[in-house]
Amino acid sequence: DTKGLKDYYKDYFSIGVAVNPRMLDAGAEADLILTQFNSMTAENAMKMGPIHPEENRYNWEPADKIAEFAVKNGLKLRGHTLCWHNQTPNWLFTDAEGKQVSKEVLLARLKKHIFEVVNRYKGAIYAWDVVNEAVPDGNGTEIYRKSKFYEIIGEEYIELAFRYAHEADPNAQLFYNDYNTEDKVKREKIYQLVKGLLDKGVPIHGVGLQGHWSLYEPTAQELEESITKFASLGLKVQITELDVSVYPKEHTSRERKDTDKAEFTPEMNNKQAAHYKMLFEIFRKHKDKISGVTFWNLSDRYSWLDNFPVRGRKDFPLLFDQNHQPKKAFWEVVKF
Ligand code: G3I
Repeated sequence: DTKGLKDYYKDYFSIGVAVNPRMLDAGAEADLILTQFNSMTAENAMKMGPIHPEENRYNWEPADKIAEFAVKNGLKLRGHTLCWHNQTPNWLFTDAEGKQVSKEVLLARLKKHIFEVVNRYKGAIYAWDVVNEAVPDGNGTEIYRKSKFYEIIGEEYIELAFRYAHEADPNAQLFYNDYNTEDKVKREKIYQLVKGLLDKGVPIHGVGLQGHWSLYEPTAQELEESITKFASLGLKVQITELDVSVYPKEHTSRERKDTDKAEFTPEMNNKQAAHYKMLFEIFRKHKDKISGVTFWNLSDRYSWLDNFPVRGRKDFPLLFDQNHQPKKAFWEVVKF
């Protein structure tokens, strides 16, 4: 069977994968990308810290390599991400004396950054995660995460980031992207944020549900509620960073539990297959609302979850095993 995920899903939505430049050299990883996926996202290479390490120096090479691979092979490319509180470069928030910069200076820097990066990949990148994770977790009432962007600029940094990106590339689809979007409290806050932007005429076209899930969450109902709620605003919905950790939520403290054997057990295999089956049933049911599903990493050989939240604890969150072979979950996802 030489059919890939992208072929099974050609009448539904694009199927993407988060990549690092080193995976794109000829070899097993590049082969797997090309047979299975028709969309890519840079896992790290286009974030502000990696791509713009000093005020007057950009590190284009890794991101260029990804963009060239996408264009050459006809894959779609999502841009990730223009404004995030993590992986920001040291220079961004401070002046030469090490003092915190003013609102005006930070906005000018943000605008320049967005213009430079969006411009460079115009035509290659069809959609940008403009603002990432601006809403806090927990049950507090505050809608805005207390990031440096928020502290220095105020809530309008979000709106302005979208306006700058739109000005830089009027054809790009602009997304707000976040995790824990199935949590009722956080979902409502994101909804209010996004609706507020739309009411003000801010150019925003979609909401990215990251989809860092586990064997135990979300439920089908929680997932459907998220998809339909954001789509009801007239926005596109994408699943932007999908993976299904095999560890229970209560094992996500930073301590390794005795029961975490770093072994992919038959029970995990079965549960994960059933969970992926459910997720993709819901995605297919809402194909009119969903324009893309992207996995966060290629195979269980490497996942960011191998180091999070427990450093060095192997996880097995993807559809392909450590030898790039399809897992039971893969076969459930393509059986319909
Ligand atoms: O590149 C440096 C290297 O020079 C250094 O020696 C090494 C030492 O730790 O770190 C390397 O950087 C790491 C980077 O990944 C590249 O491998 C960072 O420490 C590490 O923190 C970083 O993790 C990334 C994480 O975002 C940062 O928050 C993960 O790879 C990446 O998968 C993850 O992706 C995020 C999305 O962007 C947003 N949504 C959540 C998702 C998962 O956290």
